[in-house]
Amino acid sequence: MPDFLEKPSEEASVARWQRFLGLALTRTSDLPDREAQWILQAVLGWNGTDLFRYAGCPLPASAGPAITDILCRRLQGEPLAYCLGRWSFMDLDLQVSPDVLIPRPDTETLVRWAIGQIPPGKPWRVLDLGTGSGAVALAIAHARPETEIWAVEQSAEALGIARKNGEILGLHVRWCCGDWCAPLPGDLGFDLVVANPPYLADSDPHLEGLCHEPRMALVSGPEGNECFGAILEQVRPHLQPNTRLALEHGCDQGRSVRGLLQQYGWDEIFTLGDLAGRDRVSGGIWKRQNAGAA
Ligand SMILES: C[S@@+](CC[C@H](N)C(=O)[O-])C[C@H]1O[C@@H](n2cnc3c(N)ncnc32)[C@H](O)[C@@H]1O
Repeated sequence: MPDFLEKPSEEASVARWQRFLGLALTRTSDLPDREAQWILQAVLGWNGTDLFRYAGCPLPASAGPAITDILCRRLQGEPLAYCLGRWSFMDLDLQVSPDVLIPRPDTETLVRWAIGQIPPGKPWRVLDLGTGSGAVALAIAHARPETEIWAVEQSAEALGIARKNGEILGLHVRWCCGDWCAPLPGDLGFDLVVANPPYLADSDPHLEGLCHEPRMALVSGPEGNECFGAILEQVRPHLQPNTRLALEHGCDQGRSVRGLLQQYGWDEIFTLGDLAGRDRVSGGIWKRQNAGAA
């Protein structure tokens, strides 16, 4: 607990606790007031209106220890998503644990593109590789409920979280555990393939600031682009004419991913930028009859 702050008594008002959390979190967060609000809402099971309406009321009994526990973990640098055990992605409330990457707003570029490709009402077959918490697969399933979605994840623990998220949200996805396309049955002929694979090199300095998240969700290998090649190789038997594919990548990897797409025989290769205009997603359309003939 920060020594410059006095912890409120358990009976202090909700507003007093909110002020205390906001001040304490300035040590670790760029958004201390927002985080204070999210912590109170999560522990109390309230929405923003409740927080405002009951600001002057005493903190409900037994909430103090849970709030203090979250604050201590947060002050030790644990990401808020793991402290709360949940995180929101594209209007979906997802369970998360240190077994899964915390879904990032950056990935919305990939998901919005994917949803835009699928004609409403058409039962497209979609594949999400490296599904983690299930964020991408579930956001697509939510927006296009008539699609048949397959999602693959190598970590059994992460897949357990994804499966649970699907159950809680009532969204149907075919979950598979294994190395990219290895666990998929036969030749499925996907209409759309998406992936947000690990894309950092194992010496990337950003890894230091990401030490709470699973290394296998972040690191691709010595170069950082190994997973793109593995995916493009393994997905070939599952392609059909007009399969669309998009891969999320680092903002300095656009050129190298476009090169790989060309090498593996993709046409109409494109790159999408994020809101800041940086390359973040590249993909293409498969125009060949025979997927094996790259
Ligand atoms: C960057 S995370 C993306 C998670 C999620 N799709 C998202 O966007 O939030 C990459 C995911 O790929 C998984 N992964 C890594 N290597 C894999 C492999 N060979 N086969 C399948 N999944 C793999 C990791 O465990 C991790 O969950």
